[in-house]
Amino acid sequence: MKILNFGSLNMDYVYQVPHFVQPGETLAAGGRSIKLGGKGLNQSIALARAGARVCHAGCIGQGGEELKRFLEENGVDTEGLMQVPDMQGHTVIQVNPQGENCILLYGGSNLCQSREHIARTMERFAPGDWVLLQNEISLLPEVVEEASRAGLRIVLNPSPCNERLQDVDFGCLSWLVVNEVEAEQITGEQEPEKVFAALHARWPELSLLMTLGSRGSRAFRVSGGETEKAQAAALRVQAVDTTGAGDTYTGFFVAGLMEDMPLKACMERASRAAAISVTRPGAAESVPWRKELEGEGLIL
Ligand code: RIB
Repeated sequence: MKILNFGSLNMDYVYQVPHFVQPGETLAAGGRSIKLGGKGLNQSIALARAGARVCHAGCIGQGGEELKRFLEENGVDTEGLMQVPDMQGHTVIQVNPQGENCILLYGGSNLCQSREHIARTMERFAPGDWVLLQNEISLLPEVVEEASRAGLRIVLNPSPCNERLQDVDFGCLSWLVVNEVEAEQITGEQEPEKVFAALHARWPELSLLMTLGSRGSRAFRVSGGETEKAQAAALRVQAVDTTGAGDTYTGFFVAGLMEDMPLKACMERASRAAAISVTRPGAAESVPWRKELEGEGLIL
């Protein structure tokens, strides 16, 4: 069983700032580094480092060669990457002394998907395989449609939430992975039970994973008309850079589901992985390896 991640790849230009820049302000950055990111790439790295067999599809543009190389170094199959002439998707990220971030996203190459590329990619997958998606690429509704037609189990992390989601058929999804803000944008509700109830009323087959920041995470897994509920606590760590923590959680969580790990164990392992990632700078580079979460080498 394998997983396709059809998702974004970004060069992250990261600036250390004393506070987030204000309207009209010119602010000197204390440091600058170039990191590898994009919600898609980060989640592929997390899946791979968690031990899943992952194929990444998406678009590589001008200046994005390092992103492809990094995926390959981490054991990710990159046959689904397409070269395009546009500039690589990139971000300008401010990181404050608390490790919080502000992200300016330029879609670039990530907005160059084609229907032909989607169809060609899906040919390599069979019913029972998984697909993980985020909302940083063009043609997301079409990817969902094709993945559903191919019989894949679809997990959507609809981040960042925008009008593109209105055309996505949520009835095709197996799992929705959201934070509190995204949950409210989609359902109008904040409290996990109410978020799930709102989703369940419209899409009775849809399972929900909701991350709650310092309050941990909640899951509602629907199967055979029954709903299994689970929760996990968040771990307290000294944050250096929170960029990519949600992606680390998502990748480890989905890898756990693919392995048929118990739901709570999937969530606890994903929480530990995300906690480790925030103690390190960068997004994709900060994702821990599975072995760092196990046995003697356990950090948290
Ligand atoms: O989720 C973090 C990611 O969001 C960053 O790596 C950045 O590229 C943006 O896509």
